Amino acid sequence: MPRAIIAPSVLASDFGQLTAECKRMIKSGAEWLHMDVMDGHFVPNITMGAPILTCVRKGIPDIFMDCHMMVAHPERWVDDIADAGGALYCFHIEATSDPISLIEAIHKRDMKAGVAVSPDTPSTAITDEIGAIADMLLVMTVYPGRGGQKFIESCVPKVTELRKRFPDKDIEVDGGVGPKTIGVCADAGSNVIVAGTAIFAADDPPAVIQTLKDTVNA
Ligand code: DX5
Ligand code: ZN
Repeated sequence: MPRAIIAPSVLASDFGQLTAECKRMIKSGAEWLHMDVMDGHFVPNITMGAPILTCVRKGIPDIFMDCHMMVAHPERWVDDIADAGGALYCFHIEATSDPISLIEAIHKRDMKAGVAVSPDTPSTAITDEIGAIADMLLVMTVYPGRGGQKFIESCVPKVTELRKRFPDKDIEVDGGVGPKTIGVCADAGSNVIVAGTAIFAADDPPAVIQTLKDTVNA
């Protein structure tokens, strides 16, 4: 299994201090920052887009921005996110009819391509053909749209299934993940761990990040 990567979700941060919050997480041991882009269409909420990511990147030039695109028409934003300095562009399989062309467009802009499945979408929506060219597969463990929700454990078998088919890929879990729920995620084979509330609301974020990392690497 690929190595553990911890990606704090900035949705749980103080947006007024976004760059400082990202720096704080990197200092605390985070490798990636998970940037939740919501458009008010694919999900009911609106969060941030390329202009904000551009500002964060300006403040932290070597940041790895894992951009979780909860947007309708994900093909529309590839160029903007690439220009903003996105490192990984993760779209929802539910939002596109041509995932292969979209992955190719993302790669053309030198970003890694991620493919996400919402709780009601089976893992088989990520076909062998899609999985073969994607860099990361994201299994949502809450319904996309907001932070601080309860972990849906019935989503975890999808991680097991994807890990079996794609032993070398990054497999990310996102939603309600923290020290209490990391065990089942790690056992199932996820190695990229998104956590918002569990890290940002903790008294000791470096300790939480270390716990998550150690559990995956155990
Ligand atoms: C939900 C987002 C998640 C969320 C995670 O739509 O995709 O990234 O912010 O936050 P927690 O860890 O608080 O569930
Ligand atoms: Zn997310």
